[in-house]
Amino acid sequence: MAVPMKFLTEDLEAMKSAGLYGTIRTIESPQGAWVKISGKDYINLCSNNYLGLCNDPRLVTKVKEYVDRYGVGPGAVRTIAGTMTPHIELERRLAEFKGAEAAIVLQSGFCANLAVIPTLVPAAEDIIYSDSLNHASIIDACRLTKAKVVRYEHSDLDDLTAKLEEYKGAPGKHLLVTDGVFSMDGDIAKLPEIVEICEKYGVIVVVDDAHGEGVLGRGGRGIVDHFGLHGKVDVEVGTMSKAFGVMGGVVAGSTTLIDYIRQKARPNLFSSALTVPDIAANLASVEILEESEDLVNRLRENGDFLKKELSAIGFNTGNSETPITPVIIGEAQDAKTFSAKLFENGVFATAIVFPTVPKGTARIRCMVSAAHSRDDLNLAVEKFAKVGREMGVIS
Ligand SMILES: Cc1ncc(COP(=O)(O)O)c(C=O)c1O
Repeated sequence: MAVPMKFLTEDLEAMKSAGLYGTIRTIESPQGAWVKISGKDYINLCSNNYLGLCNDPRLVTKVKEYVDRYGVGPGAVRTIAGTMTPHIELERRLAEFKGAEAAIVLQSGFCANLAVIPTLVPAAEDIIYSDSLNHASIIDACRLTKAKVVRYEHSDLDDLTAKLEEYKGAPGKHLLVTDGVFSMDGDIAKLPEIVEICEKYGVIVVVDDAHGEGVLGRGGRGIVDHFGLHGKVDVEVGTMSKAFGVMGGVVAGSTTLIDYIRQKARPNLFSSALTVPDIAANLASVEILEESEDLVNRLRENGDFLKKELSAIGFNTGNSETPITPVIIGEAQDAKTFSAKLFENGVFATAIVFPTVPKGTARIRCMVSAAHSRDDLNLAVEKFAKVGREMGVIS
């Protein structure tokens, strides 16, 4: 390795000795309640395939139909020649689904945050109030603006109010951004209170509903619907990579907001459009969600069941209010060992360690799906109990 590149090996070695080097497994089957890895079947407890739609035949059929009609690639960025009829169709359907005036689709949820935050608050005099546990894509979006970032303690309305008071009257635009569902803990942002406080202080509210879409609200319409806050949240950011089972980001809000993002957001201007298969599959997901609440209800039942069973045998499952089920182990190396032992027992559930979660709170984050049967979940609990006792995590 050339001398200027030696830091690569050194950093990787340091990650390995700190237990922070991740094993990245390759899935040989479609995503589902079970997946095949190295020729063996495992219960899958770590995909964001909340509703089991990743391999749903209705999505596959729609993709084939659209690919036959429109081909695959968009050929350009949206603003030059990459806007195709399916993009507009999906945007209309998503706006209707979410009860918003308008929506724009982007390449991913990550891109959607990059499209919103630097576009709305680009200037040094602007201020962003950001929950301390916000997702990395929000943190990176904040890094792409010259605005001052004011972090408030996680979901702490007193701390938020104190920060708003501190900067009250400061020039520039003020914007608050929060995850809707916090992805590592599964707790829900206190959105009604946040909206009320922000209204008082004249602050724009942005909620990233990546883990709420297809999960919260009536038929999975998301956090705004969950709290009945239609028309009160300025910007809803989301992703179609989780419950929708596909890929793609979305921003929903007023017609003027969406026009602004379309004209000015750099991911829309300088990165090519979402592909036809993605759009088609997402259209099928919206149709499925609009047709029936069955999958969303099954997901909720499965989430409640797993949380109840794991905490009944002594695991610390945190304060999740959603199907996200963290099993908090503590030290990074212990969480990794726990995950490896689960894997030996046929359960695929990755360890989440620093910097994704704070040091000392390393965990196995279980992601339940509507696709899991009760037998699948009972088997998973049995294996968690076995490994937990072997490692002394539970007695
Ligand atoms: C809160 C939040 N925002 C954004 C993203 C990124 O979404 P995508 O995978 O579509 O880029 C994630 C995914 O982990 C997320 O949890």
